[in-house]
Amino acid sequence: MTEPVKRVRVRHFGQAKHDGTKIVGLTSYDYLTAGIFDRAGVDFLLVGDSAGNVVFGHDTTVPTTVDELIPLTKAVVRASTRALVVADLPFGSYESGPDDALHTAVRFMKETGAHAVKLEGGVRSTPQIERLVNSGIPVMGHVGFTPQSEHGLGGHVVQGRGANRQQVIDDAVAVERAGAFAVVLEMVPENVATEVTQALTIPTIGIGAGRYTDGQILVWTDLLGVNTGRLPRFVTEYAQLAAHMGDAVASWRDDVRNGVFPSEENIFTDD
Ligand code: KIV
Repeated sequence: MTEPVKRVRVRHFGQAKHDGTKIVGLTSYDYLTAGIFDRAGVDFLLVGDSAGNVVFGHDTTVPTTVDELIPLTKAVVRASTRALVVADLPFGSYESGPDDALHTAVRFMKETGAHAVKLEGGVRSTPQIERLVNSGIPVMGHVGFTPQSEHGLGGHVVQGRGANRQQVIDDAVAVERAGAFAVVLEMVPENVATEVTQALTIPTIGIGAGRYTDGQILVWTDLLGVNTGRLPRFVTEYAQLAAHMGDAVASWRDDVRNGVFPSEENIFTDD
């Protein structure tokens, strides 16, 4: 997104697509990383329900709750001065219908100060998206592989191949028609994502959707190498923070055991 933008707004997403400027998003779940990523110039911070995996240690995002995400989202909002903060609606908090979705989204908007919400699903989620947008809440859609439906989809499976191709396109179009300001395309073949990107007027944000979407998002722990599991093919690690942190803690542990820490520079004197 082009500088200088004081605070990224949803209108800047449309502008970026129009200008051909790539939109950059990253997940965040806490005050410290949100401040770092905000100062590094990412355009939006997603407080993803991937917190279920990354923060709370679940195998899937399914168990993540609204009450778990609200304090995380508050912290991210407090830390960010430029990035647009998107709150993810977790599984079970919007599926039963537009009233349910509005109730949850209002909680996020009022209690956390988030600037937009994200929810999963294309055609099936359009009544929810319409209700939120008509209530003044910006919505980011999410189609292709939708982690909350992992069990229904049969695991981490690329979506949009073969007969399923048209479904992904229809889903993305439905999300745009319902009024979303952007749509995440997750684990979709590059050529399908490109077709969707060309067909839509709203920007597409890819994660495992190839090179030609209007923007990209990653889970920050994948990007920076704080990951215990298998790294998805669509991620390149830009740092190995877990290794650095482990080495640093081991050095400190040794220094404590060997009486090297604390040293003279760490102590208080009584004068
Ligand atoms: O929760 C999340 O981190 C997400 C991204 C994978 C887009 O939804």
